[in-house]
Amino acid sequence: MAGPEAGRRHLLDVDGLDDRDLAWLVRRTRALAAGAPAAALDRTVINLFFEPSTRTRVSFELAARRLGMRVVNVELERSSSAKGESLEDTAATLAAMGADALIIRHPETGRCHRLAEALSVDLGLLNAGDGSGHHPSQALLDVATLEAGGVALAGARIAIIGDIVRSRVARSDVSAFRRRGAAEIRLAGPPDWLPETVPSGVRRTDNLIEAVTDADVVVMLRIQHERMDHRAWPDAAGYHADWGLRPEHLELARPGCRVLHPGPINRGVEISDAVADGPQSLILDQVRMGVHARMAIFEWLFAADRSAAPG
Ligand code: NCD
Repeated sequence: MAGPEAGRRHLLDVDGLDDRDLAWLVRRTRALAAGAPAAALDRTVINLFFEPSTRTRVSFELAARRLGMRVVNVELERSSSAKGESLEDTAATLAAMGADALIIRHPETGRCHRLAEALSVDLGLLNAGDGSGHHPSQALLDVATLEAGGVALAGARIAIIGDIVRSRVARSDVSAFRRRGAAEIRLAGPPDWLPETVPSGVRRTDNLIEAVTDADVVVMLRIQHERMDHRAWPDAAGYHADWGLRPEHLELARPGCRVLHPGPINRGVEISDAVADGPQSLILDQVRMGVHARMAIFEWLFAADRSAAPG
């Protein structure tokens, strides 16, 4: 059951984390990945995923189980939200049953933030991806994966390539990489898929070669068909020819350049087999790190001292 101090903390986006909490979460994720022990948490968390997910949903569940927590996966097509119940009422209902936190993935941008504002019950919220909004746990695991893989983010040149404008991963990664001191972030994709404005230290380009040249890190993105006007779909082969990451591109990058992709990957579309399965790919390291990042997030969410990061 929720204690009086529980549940007020939320993880909605990277910018909502202060420097101390961000540093703690990355450090703790890496420590857990290196085998540090974790104390059990007597908590109940609920996965509420309104969009498909393999990695994020399963890794939140595995992380909760590793911490000895109770975890419930709501089957949405069989739940009352299919009968028209609002997310606010669903949240209040689950809190009344003793849930301490909800892990929410929702197709609507900003939905988790709006729920947090309207929340009248004592419940922590973890944003597991909202439309084209934010995906903070992915950004944390991406930072931890790169740092554990030997990439110094301070001073790094990072290319993020593909469907930038619809990608919550791109948005959260940009925030996290800037906070970790990246020297330059290059957002690359077809012109219509680039954001209209970018923060300082971030460049836009519609030239793949320019994006990858001298890069320390390349992050590839899936085309977010589910958030796209279907008439605008590119064909897979044409997209691969123009924007797919292939071994010849990595030859232009820094030696030892690392490749990330949040998954699911579409082989032969945004990434070639040779790159996805090659020695520079950290794609499965990201998946592994995802469980540790989500354990650290639960520890942070339920830290007894609400005013500071634990540990
Ligand atoms: C991403 C997502 O859902 O935003 N995947 C993930 O969480 N691992 C990226 C995507 O779906 O393309």
